[in-house]
Amino acid sequence: MLISNEGYVKYNAKHIFSKPIKVPYLLQLNNARTLMYNLGLIGVNSTGVGYGNLSIRFHGDEFLITGTNTGAISVLSPNDYCLVKSFDIVRNSIISCGPVQASSESMTHGAIYRSVSEINCVIHIHSKNIFDGMIRDKYPFTPENAEYGTPDLAIAIENCVLKSDKKEGLIVLAGHDEGIIAYGCTVEKTLKLILEIKKKYEREHIIVNVTKENNSIMSKNKIKAAIFDLDGVIVDTAKYHYIAWKEIAKKYGFDFTESDNERLKGVSRMESLDILLNIGKIKISQKEKEDLATIKNERYKALIANMNPDEILYGVREFIESLRSNGILTALGSASKNSGFILEKLNILPLFDVVIDGNHVSNAKPNPEVFLKAAKLLNTLPENCVVFEDAQAGIEAAKAANMKCIGIGSPKILKNADLVIEGFKSTELSEILHPLCLNAKKQQK
Ligand code: G6P
Ligand code: MG
Repeated sequence: MLISNEGYVKYNAKHIFSKPIKVPYLLQLNNARTLMYNLGLIGVNSTGVGYGNLSIRFHGDEFLITGTNTGAISVLSPNDYCLVKSFDIVRNSIISCGPVQASSESMTHGAIYRSVSEINCVIHIHSKNIFDGMIRDKYPFTPENAEYGTPDLAIAIENCVLKSDKKEGLIVLAGHDEGIIAYGCTVEKTLKLILEIKKKYEREHIIVNVTKENNSIMSKNKIKAAIFDLDGVIVDTAKYHYIAWKEIAKKYGFDFTESDNERLKGVSRMESLDILLNIGKIKISQKEKEDLATIKNERYKALIANMNPDEILYGVREFIESLRSNGILTALGSASKNSGFILEKLNILPLFDVVIDGNHVSNAKPNPEVFLKAAKLLNTLPENCVVFEDAQAGIEAAKAANMKCIGIGSPKILKNADLVIEGFKSTELSEILHPLCLNAKKQQK
């Protein structure tokens, strides 16, 4: 048995390793994959097991599907896709080719393509919130005893599709916790189904719930304002910065890796460039540096030009709205000089009372200037502010400003934060939010 991106591959695989397979609409499919990953609907859970996969029909019942064990990769390349040539539900076997073996969920995708010829795209996502809502509202579902990656599930899915809308639809996999399948005639239409169902149910998720108040670090602090970093907290722009910086490194003939990119998080543009040039051991004049920074920024801006509100990280909008409706002031405190542009693209400018970014400060994080300016404009003392940050430099800046700091990411990296959460979808939210709001209300009285 193979370890797969959903636990274990349960079918018998005959796979021929080959070069990437070129199919029309791969770019579109891959963009959909990136969006699903950014929304947390495809990814990897805290125990390292991947979830979610997507595919597109090629010729006949052949289809291109994401490879096994790709859940942790933020942006896939053609090397991460596999062509399923044929499948046999009764014998539970799959024949495939490509640079990587097929997703463990291939049989399920195959069953859908086989059942209706107009279906050309299948997207399998995970979301507790959507799952619970769909079960409650009685969407088409597969039985609880049909487990993921099994012929039973494939047959159940086939039945479901034939009984419901044949061209596009959503199915909840009751035997595959949090699992949902969307299918449609095109990538675009299938994606639309997911984005709509996400919108329908996501707002139910952030519930201000009184739990473990005494355990919360926030309950002991009088919080009046929350300051949010932008990149990595509200939206994942790191991948676009990475593409743009990597191209600069390539110009100078050295490689710039994803782990190198980690060092640039929260760091200003010019300091990022210094780190990059240091990695490549390149020495150039100040004028050349400025030109390079401009080239990088033009490329970055082209990459973020099509950003839209769907790229806002899961739950953050609702979290900020909840704070505001409970009397907490909100500000943006970002190193980026592009933050105005991004906030506009995401349509979230009204979520902030104050916006302070790289255009308003002369000292970059870890210097506390950006957060202190935000607090001053909010007319709030630093000790009454909490900062949400994903980068070490930002956490140091918050601490230097004498503010509370909640890290977004891994506690192993964000060592000095008062509390670290995975993101704005975890249950700890209520532990932060409720005491935050209680404190604000008490102070308003
Ligand atoms: C954020 C990002 C950094 C970036 C900095 C400046 O803090 O995490 O990676 O270098 O903003 O961004 P800018 O958009 O001004 O180049
Ligand atoms: Mg950041």
